[in-house]
Amino acid sequence: MADSQDNAAENKAITRRQFLSRAWWAAAGLMIVETTGGLVASLWPKLKAGSFGTKVKVASVEEARAMPVGTVAYFPEQRFYLSRVESGFLALYRRCTHLGCVVPWRDDNPSEDALASNGRFNCPCHGGIFDRYGVVHAGPPPKPLDIFPITVENGEVIVDTGTIISRSSFDESQVTKI
Ligand code: FES
Repeated sequence: MADSQDNAAENKAITRRQFLSRAWWAAAGLMIVETTGGLVASLWPKLKAGSFGTKVKVASVEEARAMPVGTVAYFPEQRFYLSRVESGFLALYRRCTHLGCVVPWRDDNPSEDALASNGRFNCPCHGGIFDRYGVVHAGPPPKPLDIFPITVENGEVIVDTGTIISRSSFDESQVTKI
């Protein structure tokens, strides 16, 4: 009788030990999930709406249509230029296709296209020169400035700065008609 009581107590003790062990592992598991989850979340880049790498609203359709041909509007935070050409718009990535310098727009430089008498992109690093279509006219850049897709959604002109389109030359299909 005493033996069976001892066995019952031992079984109970083992059950308690197992329970405590499982509880400990569950707590440890939760802690690992929390810690690694937090670490992953802190390392993952957070893209703010409207920042580079996201879809950016640039203007209403009416505002865009009112831009005179030859106008180049700069969106520095979003790293692109909206270029108004004869048949529509190009969103030109500001990164030089030679070695990646930021290419400034120069209103006071002579034009390289027929859209206006002044204005061109002039890379300060090695003298790369581009026109309003992003086409190279001088210097070492091997190809035109990259572009981003432009769409119209709910009457707003949207540039998708998360999608970089490389091109070897300009062709009219790259222009978005609005
Ligand atoms: S980086 Fe622009 S010309 Fe070299």
